Amino acid sequence: MDFRGPGPYHTARLMTKQPSDSNLPGPLPPPGDSGLTRLAFVRQIAGQLPDHAGLAGRPPAGPVLHPAEKALEESQRLLELFFSQSLDGFFFMMLDEPVRWDESVDKEVVLDYVFAHQRVTRVNQAMAAQYGARPEELLGRTPAELFVHDPADGRARWRRFFDAGRLHVETDERKLDGTPIWIEGDYICLYAPDGRIVGHFGIQRDITARRRAEEALRFSEEKFAKAFRSSPLRVSISTLAEGRFLEVNDAFLRDHGFTREQVIGRTSPELGLWSNPEHRRRLVEVIERDGMVHEFEYPGQTRDGRVQITSLSAEVIQVAGETCILAVATDITDRKLAEEEIHRSREELRALAARLQSVREDERTHISREIHDELGQALTGLKLDLAWLRQRLKDRTDLSERLQSVVGRIDGTIDAVRRIATELRPSVLDHLGLVAAVEWQAQEFEKLAGVAVRLSVSSATPTINGATATTIFRILQETLTNVARHAEATRVEIALEVGEAAVLLRVADNGRGISETALRDRRSLGLIGLRERAIASGGELRIEGRPGEGTVVSARIPSRPQAGGRAP
Ligand SMILES: Nc1ncnc2c1ncn2[C@@H]1O[C@H](COP(=O)(O)OP(=O)(O)O)[C@@H](O)[C@H]1O
Ligand SMILES: [Mg+2]
Repeated sequence: MDFRGPGPYHTARLMTKQPSDSNLPGPLPPPGDSGLTRLAFVRQIAGQLPDHAGLAGRPPAGPVLHPAEKALEESQRLLELFFSQSLDGFFFMMLDEPVRWDESVDKEVVLDYVFAHQRVTRVNQAMAAQYGARPEELLGRTPAELFVHDPADGRARWRRFFDAGRLHVETDERKLDGTPIWIEGDYICLYAPDGRIVGHFGIQRDITARRRAEEALRFSEEKFAKAFRSSPLRVSISTLAEGRFLEVNDAFLRDHGFTREQVIGRTSPELGLWSNPEHRRRLVEVIERDGMVHEFEYPGQTRDGRVQITSLSAEVIQVAGETCILAVATDITDRKLAEEEIHRSREELRALAARLQSVREDERTHISREIHDELGQALTGLKLDLAWLRQRLKDRTDLSERLQSVVGRIDGTIDAVRRIATELRPSVLDHLGLVAAVEWQAQEFEKLAGVAVRLSVSSATPTINGATATTIFRILQETLTNVARHAEATRVEIALEVGEAAVLLRVADNGRGISETALRDRRSLGLIGLRERAIASGGELRIEGRPGEGTVVSARIPSRPQAGGRAP
C-alpha cells in the first residue's frame, strides 16, 4: 500500500474506544512485525504525507488510480486541508512503541515509558500558535517535557485518559516561554488492531481569556458576597414594586430582630418595617425617577414597634427579569439625637451670650449715666463752690492762684468723666440715634487712629430699634478697633444703609487683608463675637480678606427684632 493510502487518517475509523475486532485490517502491522513497517507507519503519521499542491486544481501526477483509490485520496486531501487550516489546534502524539494498557500491566511503569516515549508527531499552525511556537518546535516533544510544570497532574490525567480512551478536559499549561495558558481539549486514543495504544489525537483551544473573564467575574462576585454578608450596615435585595425580600444580611436580621426564614419572601410592609406606608411610596417614587436614592431618611420601625430614624441608600438592579433594589440602610437615631442635642445646646449658648451682651449693655448704659450725671454734677458743684471761694479770697493771691489750679484740674476731671461715660456707652446713640452715633464714631476714629475715613449713609427710616442700633454700633466699633490694630490701612470706607427691613453696614479697609487662618481660627474671639452678635439679632455677618488689598466686613441686621429673634 502506498503512503497516500489509508494513512493516519484511517485511524479516524479507530477513534472509537476500543477496537472490537483486532482482526480488522489496519495500517499498523500486527505485533511482532518488522520494525521497518512500523517505521513507515510512524512516518505517515509524523506528517510525511504528500503536500496538497494538487488541491489547487492541478491533477496529481502519478500512476492512474482505481476510482476507489481516487475517492480515498480526495478525502485524505480534504482531511489534510482541514487539519492545517483549522482554527482549533490539532495534533498527533505517537508512541515510539505501542503499549499494552490493561490489568495485566503495571500502569505506572507504562506511564513512565509513555512520558518519555510519546512524541508530538504532527501539529497544525493553530496548535503551535497556542504555545507561542512554530510547528517544528513542538515536534518530538514528550509529555515529560510538556508537563514539566506539573508532572504529577499530567500523569494522573494521562492515566484517566488511557483508562477511558478519551478525555475532555481543561488544563493549566505553559507556552514554550513559560507563560501560563488554559487549554480546553478533546483527546482520543489511537489503538493498534491488537488493542495496544499507539498514541493519541487531540483537538484543543486556548481558553485563557475565557478563564480570566470567569475568574474576574467570580472574584467580583465573591467580593460582593463578602461585602454583603459582613457589612455592619443592613443590606438587602428586595423587589421594587412590593418590597419583597430576596436576600438580607446578618446585620439586617440583627437590627430588626427577625430570623432569615421570617424575612425572605415577605414584604417590608408585611413585616411592619414602615411606621408610615407613605414613606415607602415616596422612596419608590424617587427610585423610579432617578434609578437610585442617596441617604433617604425616614422613621422606620423595629419588630417591637420602636421608631428608628433610618438612612437608606439604594440602587436598582435586575434580578431574573424583575426590577429590584439593592439597599443599604442604617439606624441613625442616635446620630440624629446627638445632632439635635448639639443644635439645642448651641442655641442655648447663643441665647446665653445674647443675654449677657444685653445685660452688659444695660449695665454700661446705667454706669455711664451714673458717672455722667452723678459725678458730673458733683464735680460741677465743686467747681461752683470753688469759684465762690475764689471770689472771696481775691486779695489772697497765693490762695486764689491755688484755687484757680484746682478748678483747672476739676475741668480736666470733668472731661475724663465724660470720656469714660461715652466710651462705656455714647449717649449720642441713645439721644440722637444710630446715624449720628456712626458719624460721631467715624470722626473719633479718624482723629485717634489717623486713618482717613469716608462715610456714606443712606437712611430710609430715621428711627431704629435700640437693640438693632446697639448691635450695629458695637459691630462697627469692634471692626474699627481691628482695623487700627491689625490692618495697617490708610483708608476706611464705611457704608451704612438703614432700610425698612434691615440695616446694612459695610466696613472696607485697604490694609493687608485678613488671612484665611485668622478667619477660621477658633481663638479669634473678636471675630466670633462679631458673628454671634449678628446671628443673635437674627442677622448675618461676612468677613472677606484679600491679601494686600484689604478686608471687608459686611453685616445685615433686621431693622426690628424678628419673631423668634434673640436681639439683646
Ligand atoms: N481688618 C483686619 N485686617 C487684617 N487682619 C485682621 C483684621 N481684623 C482682624 N484681623 C486678624 O484677625 C485676627 C483675629 O481678630 P480678633 O478675633 O478680633 O482678635 P484680636 O483683635 O483680639 O486679635 C487678628 O489677630 C488679626 O490677625
Ligand atoms: Mg479684635
